[in-house]
Amino acid sequence: MTDNGRVTATAVTSDKGPRDVVLLGSTGSIGTQALDVVRRNPDRFRVVGLGAGGGRVGDLAAQALEFGAEAVAVSRASALEDLQLALYAHAQRRGYARGESRLPKILAGPEASAELAQWPCDVVLNGMTGSVGLVPTLAALRAGRTLALANKESLIAGGPLVTPYLDRIVPVDSEHSALAQCLRGGRLDEVDRLVLTASGGPFRGSTRAQLTAVTPADALAHPTWNMGPVVTVNSATLVNKGLEVIEAHLLFGVPYERIDVVVHPQSLVHSMVEFTDGSTLAQVSPPDMRLPIALALGWPHRVPQAQPPMDWRSPQTLTFEPLDQAAFPAVGLARAAGIAGGTAPAAYNAANEEAVAAFLAGHLPFLSIVDTIAEVLDRLPLRERPTVADVLDVESEARRLARERIGVAA
Ligand SMILES: NC(=O)c1ccc[n+]([C@@H]2O[C@H](COP(=O)([O-])OP(=O)(O)OC[C@H]3O[C@@H](n4cnc5c(N)ncnc54)[C@H](OP(=O)(O)O)[C@@H]3O)[C@@H](O)[C@H]2O)c1
Repeated sequence: MTDNGRVTATAVTSDKGPRDVVLLGSTGSIGTQALDVVRRNPDRFRVVGLGAGGGRVGDLAAQALEFGAEAVAVSRASALEDLQLALYAHAQRRGYARGESRLPKILAGPEASAELAQWPCDVVLNGMTGSVGLVPTLAALRAGRTLALANKESLIAGGPLVTPYLDRIVPVDSEHSALAQCLRGGRLDEVDRLVLTASGGPFRGSTRAQLTAVTPADALAHPTWNMGPVVTVNSATLVNKGLEVIEAHLLFGVPYERIDVVVHPQSLVHSMVEFTDGSTLAQVSPPDMRLPIALALGWPHRVPQAQPPMDWRSPQTLTFEPLDQAAFPAVGLARAAGIAGGTAPAAYNAANEEAVAAFLAGHLPFLSIVDTIAEVLDRLPLRERPTVADVLDVESEARRLARERIGVAA
């Protein structure tokens, strides 16, 4: 963006050749879509590093050889041997000689993602799930990289630790990408309100009473987006929208009372900016993450044919409705945590991560996810100007309290 908003990403300006990209979370939904963008745009992007948790080493090895990555990282140290074997197997399939130098350097262990985040490159895309992404996010930013940020949890948990680097962060979340695009249409001091759209998830229109018997399979059936399991459950509880309200505040500096959420079931309008003269700019495209991913990697330039456009020759119905705060209290709770500031957003997110894991394992009822967050926020004292150690400490305490409550609720 120009000087209109706070997402400036001025570091990505040299376009002498393809941009070198490090991709954290390459085996996930965002990661594989990002690779699709790179695959279709070899003149613009080149993969130099790929990282994942260690759950899908076969996929990671295949990606590393297809894209010729210089380095691969897995956080789970025990996945090292399987990754080596998978790399050799894929290399053999490609006809490489044993020990050939085209195999990537392997980084393994809890520090591996942060190490990879500092690998020489132009852009780091953080597509990991969870606040485990915080340390790699900070590592990339401190190393001077531009950060294409899908891992909203790291911005939310890190808050004031991450915001000093806003000039090098470009959002990947479709809503925040939409806001960044709309903000090109006016100055930040001309903005009246940010309006985040929400699909409403699979339980739009349900009452709280109807949500008592929701199963993980119900919650994983998102009507418009195909995403990883955690963000899909977060969309069903509306916790994801709560996190996005905090994300919007941190990215664009607009006060919480001027950030609205509106339910838009078609997921075509990805968010809107209302300006002080009464004009509203909206960004509209079919639900497809390849557009915001491509824009974040190429910022500020658009990538041609990043996704098929809207078909405006066919009839289109766009509807908007207010959010049912009684059935979905997660957004109000996130707003309160955001206004409290300090470590409250980190606690909100950490308690949610524990509760979602318990829900997916069948140990916690759906409605207890948000109840768990509320109780943890109530019990945990706020730290106002946290260091990284404070954030990690608060996170671990929030997780402990959440597990304690889940043990009772189970
Ligand atoms: N999917 C979407 O459409 C979408 C849209 C907007 C925002 N987002 C955000 O993007 C992020 C990723 O979402 P997703 O849907 O892509 O999730 P996902 O499909 O579950 O993928 C998560 C990725 O993170 C990796 N990972 C997990 N734990 C890790 C660890 N400890 N260290 C390193 N890597 C780890 C996983 O590796 P393994 O394969 O080894 O487990 C996988 O590659 C989330 O923050 C989400 O909120 C997603």
